[in-house]
Amino acid sequence: MTNSTKPKVLTLDTINSNIRTVEYAVRGRIAIRSEEIRDELAHGKKFPFDRVVSCNIGNPQQLNQKPISFFRQVASLCENTDLLAEDKAELVSQLYPADTIARAKKILKTLGAGIGAYSHSQGAASIRQTVARFLLERDGHPANFNNIYLTQGASAGVQAILGLLTQSNKTGIMIPIPQYPLYSATLAYLGATPVHYLLEEESGWTLDIGSLKTTINASRAEGTDVRALVIINPGNPTGQCLDAGNMRDILSFCYEEGLVLLADEVYQTNIYNPETKPFVSFKKAMMEHPNEAIRTGLELVSFHSISKGMVGECGRRGGYYECCNFDEKVLEQVYKMASVSLCPNLHGQILVDLMCDPPRKGDVSYANYRAELDGIYESLRRRSKKLEGVFNAMEGVTCQPAEGSMYLFPRIRLPKKAIEKAASQGLAADAFYCEAMLEATGVCVVPGSGFGQKEDTWHFRSTFLPEEHLFDDFCANLSKFHADFLVTYSD
Ligand SMILES: Cc1ncc(COP(=O)(O)O)c(C=O)c1O
Repeated sequence: MTNSTKPKVLTLDTINSNIRTVEYAVRGRIAIRSEEIRDELAHGKKFPFDRVVSCNIGNPQQLNQKPISFFRQVASLCENTDLLAEDKAELVSQLYPADTIARAKKILKTLGAGIGAYSHSQGAASIRQTVARFLLERDGHPANFNNIYLTQGASAGVQAILGLLTQSNKTGIMIPIPQYPLYSATLAYLGATPVHYLLEEESGWTLDIGSLKTTINASRAEGTDVRALVIINPGNPTGQCLDAGNMRDILSFCYEEGLVLLADEVYQTNIYNPETKPFVSFKKAMMEHPNEAIRTGLELVSFHSISKGMVGECGRRGGYYECCNFDEKVLEQVYKMASVSLCPNLHGQILVDLMCDPPRKGDVSYANYRAELDGIYESLRRRSKKLEGVFNAMEGVTCQPAEGSMYLFPRIRLPKKAIEKAASQGLAADAFYCEAMLEATGVCVVPGSGFGQKEDTWHFRSTFLPEEHLFDDFCANLSKFHADFLVTYSD
């Protein structure tokens, strides 16, 4: 057989050119190298460490966070429906708490066709009704289940809505700097224009309305049709939580400027100072805004996910978004586009149902559910404080506390020699630092340049997800690496 000499149809020059411009640092070059090292370790190659610690992504179960039992019990019964047959009742009642059996039966009954069939393209009506009740309980304001769309994780929802907003390459979407790169990547793919607004690190990554105004005016003056503002609250990678007053001003700004507000609220239960900085949803803030025109007229989309919080079911791909104050005709188009993918997967939908309606006081599973949830939460809080302290104790490093989310985003000041060496290798200085960290410790983090940062500042983002019994070693390794790095590159 002779090899084909026919030119490939698909080459780097012939694919969709927008795809070439997409960057996603969370799974970028350093993360790819970390996977290679993991493989090499497994094949006996020696490194100064014996395992790779993936702190590049908020993926709790990858770092052995235990799934919540109630969720898995109900999910497994929905999957293996034979266990719900009459003749298995006694056996199954010894293995599963009664409320998990009842719940699985209820879910299957309302789904009708079970989990192997497509559901409604917006997600099963019964599960959207659960989400609507959850929103009413959370915010004290009703939600219409027809305005709720279940998704394959928040990512799919964000992509759908950014797609809806993009009319041309003149379409501008305001995104924070630093930002979670889902936004920059999706805008690059769609060919829309990112309009960056800076968060203020020194004051705890706060958002200043004055700077939003300056940014939008400058962008519009250049001919960009700015149509939406993205807020990530609690922040990723920055971990800050907005207060109600600031949120009111953001809502007013959006209304006055004619912007759709996209509120990414996937970390709404990862809140570590609830007394001083509680989570307030944008839906609640909007419904309680003093201006009635805003309550009834501002177009708001809020996103949530089963991947974060104490749920951590990233691999199941479940989430939802709620559209408020949208034109009915536009909602029909949103539905049409959802129907092109037929439906979000049923495993994710079921977890959304369980997350939004977990065991309540008095239910058989409640005590265990509460203990598991509180155990994860308290541990995350302890780890976030400990790592923040470790970063702040490093020479030339400052780190704002994580008021929420799963990340810390320390600022690092690097010696001139390191910056020059990085440049000679065509790398950003923080990427160079993170690569050195990976090779020395096995810890994989993401350089600040992957999220965007103020010029001439360097950062990295690390999760605080490594297991608690390994956490002190993890912290000690990072401290030692940093000190050694400074010695190696001291001027
Ligand atoms: C701010 C933010 N939004 C959205 C997502 C996407 O989450 P998923 O698609 O798993 O729901 C993430 C994931 O890390 C995130 O950090």
